[in-house]
Amino acid sequence: MKSNKLIVVVTVLLLISSVLVACSSEPPALSEEEQAEIKELTEEAKTCIECHSTETPGIVAIWDQSAHAEVAVSCLDCHTVDPDSPLALSGVEGHEDIKVSVSMLVPPAVCAECHENAVEQFHASGHERAYLQVAASDSMQALMYHHEGQDHPELSGASAETGCYQCHGNEIVVDDTGHPTADTYPSSGVGNLYPDGDVGNCSVCHTRHSFSIADARRPEACASCHLGPDHPDIEIYEASKHGQIYHSDGENWVWDRPPGEWEPGDYTAPTCATCHMSGIGDLEVTHNISERLYWNLWAKVSKPRTDPDVMGTYYGDGETGRELMTQVCTECHSTTLAESFFVSGDKAVNLYNDVYFAKAEEMRAELAELGLLKENPWKDEFQIIYYYLWHHEGRRARQGAMMAGADWSHWHGFFELMQDLYKLEDIYQLRIETGVIE
Ligand code: HEC
Ligand code: HEC
Ligand code: HEC
Ligand code: HEC
Ligand code: HEC
Ligand code: HEC
Ligand code: HEC
Ligand code: HEC
Repeated sequence: MKSNKLIVVVTVLLLISSVLVACSSEPPALSEEEQAEIKELTEEAKTCIECHSTETPGIVAIWDQSAHAEVAVSCLDCHTVDPDSPLALSGVEGHEDIKVSVSMLVPPAVCAECHENAVEQFHASGHERAYLQVAASDSMQALMYHHEGQDHPELSGASAETGCYQCHGNEIVVDDTGHPTADTYPSSGVGNLYPDGDVGNCSVCHTRHSFSIADARRPEACASCHLGPDHPDIEIYEASKHGQIYHSDGENWVWDRPPGEWEPGDYTAPTCATCHMSGIGDLEVTHNISERLYWNLWAKVSKPRTDPDVMGTYYGDGETGRELMTQVCTECHSTTLAESFFVSGDKAVNLYNDVYFAKAEEMRAELAELGLLKENPWKDEFQIIYYYLWHHEGRRARQGAMMAGADWSHWHGFFELMQDLYKLEDIYQLRIETGVIE
């Protein structure tokens, strides 16, 4: 009875959706060609929805409120694959009568069929390498499996699977029924590597199955990953004047304006998306979150971005990045405010580089040469503090300064950097004088 009612509701909603498409006067974000590819719901497409409205009612309900439902983009459009794809499912109870091959996984290439630009820009962004870079690093592999996982024969992957990979992405493996394996899925990381070689995860900001732009424009879309002791971007934002305004006024903002039309007035202060991604003034929407950056602020040493290789640490074009970011600021501020802000911000980055990191690195190199560092860096007080200096305190000071979060630039940043440096100097002195590791 209950499920019959749901099917009726769904059918009615679908009818409403189709009528809405027919008489929509909103200018579409897609070109006419792309629009033409989108068909009304076929019989096959309706079958998925009808059965899934009882099997997975949550997914159908969310999809039905989405922009995709309005334009008749349904389960079938995203979950159909070639029968010989490694992703093609077999043995799903309930799928016996389905005529197409269905996948559980939906790599970005599927979205690219209709959203080519977004996917291309994503592939050209720092998010692309989030998993690949961790996978390629011996020291990161050692940290995850040898140290955190203690080389346990069955359990050593637990820290990576529940931690690192949930932000960075995982290499998803499928079994011979096309289902992803338990140790590689679910993975909510941004840089998932799929069995067909595709990379990325559009759902991290556009939560499935609503796939909305309004959600992605909110700072919460970035907050599950960009937080914590080593890159407290959401905390910095909340401590900034911009975050204060978002918290006091954000509920009154217009969030769902079409791309390219979301402008100051719809909102009064920028969110993460406004500065790093959105169209504003003459700037167009970009999915390349590296495009508007000048420095690399996560590396041991910050340098302006000059490397055209997306896998390179200093990936990007810093000069252009600074111009684009300044253009964002000057939609709301005077050029004087924006330029002065970056003068102080750059000074903070250079203080970190030239004083704190340079001194720490000089001592580390000398101790290494004299054999005065332990082989296990995580048991060596000098190397642990050195790590905190660049990876935690140093990033907080740099990112706090560049995003106007004074508490993070100072108390969680430079103040602690100063303490780290003094501790390192004491340990260094002791090792040089005694010739042994304390
Ligand atoms: C007659 C019912 C029925 C129809 C029709 C149906 N499904 Fe399913 N589907 C199911 C059931 C049952 C499951 C298993 C749900 C679970 O594991 O809890 C499932 C699972 C899935 C999964 C997840 C894979 C898995 O094994 O859990 C996807 C993706 C999916 N279906 C997509 C589709 C698409 C796309 C269509 C239309 C082409 C479709 N389904 C048609 C019943 C159906
Ligand atoms: C715009 C594309 C799109 C549409 C439309 C879509 N899905 Fe999905 N679906 C995805 C993506 C992306 C994922 C995440 C897959 C991954 O991790 O690779 C997903 C995951 C799933 C999963 C597995 C994850 C889970 O939460 O269990 C199921 C089941 C599923 N979809 C069912 C459906 C059904 C049923 C419909 C239609 C009502 C539908 N999808 C419509 C893109 C889509
Ligand atoms: C809470 C989410 C989260 C977790 C958990 C996490 N990271 Fe990250 N990681 C990030 C973010 C966000 C950045 C980017 C920081 C920036 O741009 O300043 C990053 C940056 C990095 C970088 C530098 C960029 C690169 O890819 O070379 C490395 C290396 C890295 N993380 C490795 C790891 C490893 C290894 C683990 C687990 C031991 C881990 N991370 C756990 C979110 C996370
Ligand atoms: C880091 C977060 C993030 C990720 C990851 C992301 N998006 Fe977006 N996306 C956004 C934001 C924010 C907007 C809205 C920009 C604006 O304000 O207009 C947007 C807008 C869009 C739009 C509408 C504007 C346009 O360019 O046509 C599409 C379509 C889209 N995204 C698709 C995708 C696809 C496909 C992927 C996966 C490759 C993806 N997004 C990954 C944040 C993200
Ligand atoms: C068959 C074509 C098709 C596929 C495949 C597809 N989309 Fe869309 N998508 C559309 C259309 C059409 C719209 C509506 C555009 C408009 O508003 O005019 C849309 C809208 C969007 C929007 C904007 C929603 C909003 O709030 O206005 C986002 C974000 C988006 N899609 C992301 C995705 C992602 C991520 C995938 C892959 C998981 C995907 N799409 C797959 C056709 C598609
Ligand atoms: C699912 C986790 C996740 C989400 C959500 C996420 N990011 Fe990231 N982000 C990462 C990771 C991991 C990295 C590090 C990638 C690398 O350099 O290897 C990163 C890197 C970045 C970088 C630095 C890129 C570079 O070239 O160094 C910026 C800027 C960024 N993200 C902005 C955003 C914004 C803005 C949002 C929200 C609209 C967002 N991210 C959402 C995980 C995430
Ligand atoms: C007022 C605009 C603005 C807002 C709002 C903003 N950022 Fe930034 N962000 C910047 C600037 C400016 C930089 C430094 C750019 C440079 O290198 O000169 C930066 C740097 C970063 C970096 C460092 C990239 C690297 O090289 O390590 C990350 C990550 C980042 N932002 C993520 C976020 C996230 C997540 C949010 C929201 C919680 C956010 N930003 C909000 C302007 C902004
Ligand atoms: C959408 C409009 C908007 C954008 C874009 C924007 N800001 Fe702001 N910003 C504001 C508002 C509003 C305030 C609060 C002004 C006040 O205190 O009266 C503010 C305050 C500030 C403050 C605090 C100082 C002060 O005078 O109160 C700084 C610093 C700042 N912004 C820097 C930036 C930088 C740097 C950028 C670009 C990376 C930027 N803003 C982009 C709207 C914006």
